[in-house]
Amino acid sequence: MDKFVIKGGRRLSGEVTISGAKNAVVAILPAVILSDEPCIIENVPDISDVRIGLKILREIGAEVTNMGNYTYKIDPTKICRFCVPYESAKKMRASYYFLGALLGKYNRARVSMPGGCPLGARPIDQHLKAFSLLGADYNLSQGMIDLKAEQLTGNQIFFDVVTVGATMNAMLAGVKAKGLTVIENAAKEPHIVDLANFLNSMGANIMGAGTDVIKIRGVEHLHGTDYSVVPDQIEAGTFMIAAAATKGDVTLKNVIPKHLESITKKLEKIGVNVEEFDDSVRVWVEQGAPLVKVNVKTSPHPGFPTDMQPQIATLLTLADGTSIITESIWDKRFGYVDELRRMGADITVNGSVALIEGTGKLNGAPVKACDLRAGAALIIAGLAANGVTEIEDIFHIERGYDSMEVKLRQIGADIEKVSEPEELQTALERNNIPENAEAV
Ligand code: EPZ
Repeated sequence: MDKFVIKGGRRLSGEVTISGAKNAVVAILPAVILSDEPCIIENVPDISDVRIGLKILREIGAEVTNMGNYTYKIDPTKICRFCVPYESAKKMRASYYFLGALLGKYNRARVSMPGGCPLGARPIDQHLKAFSLLGADYNLSQGMIDLKAEQLTGNQIFFDVVTVGATMNAMLAGVKAKGLTVIENAAKEPHIVDLANFLNSMGANIMGAGTDVIKIRGVEHLHGTDYSVVPDQIEAGTFMIAAAATKGDVTLKNVIPKHLESITKKLEKIGVNVEEFDDSVRVWVEQGAPLVKVNVKTSPHPGFPTDMQPQIATLLTLADGTSIITESIWDKRFGYVDELRRMGADITVNGSVALIEGTGKLNGAPVKACDLRAGAALIIAGLAANGVTEIEDIFHIERGYDSMEVKLRQIGADIEKVSEPEELQTALERNNIPENAEAV
C-alpha cells in the first residue's frame, strides 16, 4: 500500500498551480452523455475519481480519447447502454450523476446505489424527489436504482435541504425535459455554476445557477462544446492552509479569488495575510506573527465549506487559544481528530462541535487517512509537525488531489510517496510483526 512520508518543519514558499475542480468534473463527465456530438473537456485533474468516471463512460459505449495536457475528447454518440456496472459505480459516490445524465438523454438509467461513506449517512431522497417530479418512476432493488420515464416534463422542485448532488442531478435530468423546470433552495457552490455553464455551452437554457433559484427551459438537442473545468476551490483552500500552517509564503495560480472568499476571510482573522490578483492569490504569515484562535461553522456556499473543515481544524491546533468548530453538513466529519491526537493535538469532540486547544505545535507520528479531506488535513499536520509523519491509506487523498506530493515538493516540502510492497504488508500483518521490529 502506498503512503506519504513527510519530514515536517519546513516553510512552504514559491508558486503552485491549482488543478480543475474534482466536484465539478465528476458531474461534467457524465453530462457529456446529453450531447449529440463529441465534446472536448480541458483542465481535467488527474485524480482517481476522474479515471473511474472515464472508465464508466467507456463501459457504456462512449469513445474517450486522452488528448494530453489534461484534455479529453469524449464522443457520446456511440453510447449503447444505460446501466452503470456495480463494479465501477461502487468505487465513486458521484457515479449517481450518471442517473441524471442517462435519464435526461434516454429516459432510462440504472446505476448502483452509492456506497457507504466515512462522513455518515449519504441519503439520496432529494435526488429521487427531483426525478419523480420530472416524471420518472424509480425502483430500488438489488442495490441498484432503476429510473424510467415516458417523457420528462418540467416542474417545480423545492429541495428540503440544500444539496449539491441533487441540484446537479436535477439540472442533468431537466435540460431536455419538456417545458420549464424551477429548482428552489438550490445549492450555490462554484461547481454547480460550472455544470450549468458547461450545459449552456452545449445549448442548454439554464438561468440562475449560483443563486437559490435555478430555471431550466428544456431544449430538443445539445451540441458539442470545448469546455475548461473551473479551478478547484477546495484544492486551493487546502494549499492556502498548508502555507499558513508552515508560516510560509505561497502564491496559488489558476484560482478564482471570489470562490475563496469565506476561506480568505477566516484566514485573515487567524492572522494570515492574503493578497488577491486576477487569477491568483498570495498567502503568507509574517515571521514571528502568532496564529489566533477563531470559531468556524460550516455551511453551504457562500459559507465556510465543509470540505475545508478538517484542514482549518489542523491549522487551529497551531493557534493560540481555544477555537470552536461546528460541522453543520455531515454528522461524522471528525474522523481525523483521533489521528491528530496521535500527533499531540488537544481536541474534544461533542456531537457536531469540536473544541480545539491550540498547543502551538504538533509532533510527527504514523497516521491513517480515513477520507479525502481528512487525509489532506493530515498532510498539513505533517508539514507543520516536528519530526517525521507517515500517512497510510493515501488512496483517499488521490481520489481528489492531483499529484499533491509533487506540488508540495515544488514549494519546498520534504514529502515522498513510498510504495510498500503488498507482499511485505501482508507478511507483516499475517505474522503480526510490527513494521519496525528488529531483525532477529
Ligand atoms: C457534495 O456531496 C460533495 N461531493 C461533498 O464533497 C461535499 O461535502 C458536499 O457536496 C457538501 O458541499 C461531490 O460534489 C462529489 P449534499 P453531496 O447532497 O452532493 C443531505 C469532498 O470532500 N442530503 O450537498 O453528496 C446530506 O445528508 C466531498 O469533495 C439529503 O438529506 O452532498 C447532507 O447532510 C465530501 N438528501 C446535506 O444534504 C439527499 O438526497 C448536503 O449533502 C441529498 C443530501
